[in-house]
Amino acid sequence: MANLIIESVSGYLRFQLIQVGLENRLFDVIEETIGKTTKQIANEANCDERYAEEWCQALALGSVLNAVFDNAFKEYTYTITGATKSALLELTPMLRLVNSVGTAVPDVCKNFSSGAPVFFEKYCNVQKNLSDCLGPWYETHLKGVLERAGINNEMKNILDFGCGMGRSTFALSEIFHNSTVHGVDLDKLSIDEARKNPKCSERIKFHCQDASEFATTGQQFELICFFVCLHDFAHPTKALELCQHLLTSDGKIAVIEMAGKEEFSPQNKEEFNSVAISTLH
Ligand SMILES: C[S@@+](CC[C@H](N)C(=O)[O-])C[C@H]1O[C@@H](n2cnc3c(N)ncnc32)[C@H](O)[C@@H]1O
Repeated sequence: MANLIIESVSGYLRFQLIQVGLENRLFDVIEETIGKTTKQIANEANCDERYAEEWCQALALGSVLNAVFDNAFKEYTYTITGATKSALLELTPMLRLVNSVGTAVPDVCKNFSSGAPVFFEKYCNVQKNLSDCLGPWYETHLKGVLERAGINNEMKNILDFGCGMGRSTFALSEIFHNSTVHGVDLDKLSIDEARKNPKCSERIKFHCQDASEFATTGQQFELICFFVCLHDFAHPTKALELCQHLLTSDGKIAVIEMAGKEEFSPQNKEEFNSVAISTLH
C-alpha cells in the first residue's frame, strides 16, 4: 500500500510538471532527434534558465524526457520521443480539465460536511477545458452515433439542453443543415462564450436559462438532446419529464453520458478516473 501511495505522489508530481511544460510551451521546443541543452530550451521557450533546467531534470527522472550527456556541450541535452509528444498532444484537453478540477479541491473539502455545491466559478477555466475535451468528440463521432440510433432525418427544430459553450450545438447544426438548433444552459459564462463563437449563425439560438424555465416557452422540438449534462442537473428525472411538453408527437430524446456500470463494484477499476473526477467536483 505504501508503494501505491508513493506511486500516486510521483504521478501527481509528474502531472504538475507536465502542466508547467504545457503552459510554457516547453514541449513545443524539445525535439525528437536533436538534443537541446537547458539553455537552448529556456531561450526558445522564453523561460528562466534555472527553472527550465530543474524542470528538464525532473521530467527526465520522471521518464517523460530523455537526457543524454553531450561531450561537446559538457552537459546533458534533452529529447522527447514522438510517441510521448503525440500522447501529450492528444491528452492535453484532458490534462487541462483534470487540472481545473483540482483547483476547487479546497472548496470541496470545505463543503464536504454540509454537502453544499461548489459552483463552476470556483474551478479555474473548467467549462472551457471541458468544452475542449468534449468538442472534438462531437465533431468526429456525434453524426455516426445519432445515425446508429436512427436519428438522421431532417428536422426543423432541435433543442440542446445543458449545451455549455455550445460545441454540441454547433455540431448538431452542421449535421442537420436545415434545422434551427437551440442551446440552453443556465451558466452565463458558458453562454457568453458560445455566443462569441464564429460558428454562430441565424440557425443557432443560445438561451441562458434553467431548462425548466425554458420549457415554459411553449416551443416544440423534433429532437431534444442532453449531452453529458443530465448527471449535472439537480433534478434529472424532472428534466426528462419536461420533454413531454417540448417534444413533437414523433420527437426523440438523445441522452449521452459517460459509460459507467449501473451499480458500484470495487472490481471495476477502469472507472477510477471518472468516479474520482466526479467526487472532486
Ligand atoms: C458537463 S457540462 C456539459 C456541457 C455540454 N453539453 C458539453 O458537452 O460540452 C453540463 C452543463 O449542464 C448545465 N446545466 C446543469 N443544470 C442545468 C439546468 N438545470 N438547466 C440548464 N443547464 C444546466 C451546466 O451549466 C453545464 O454547462
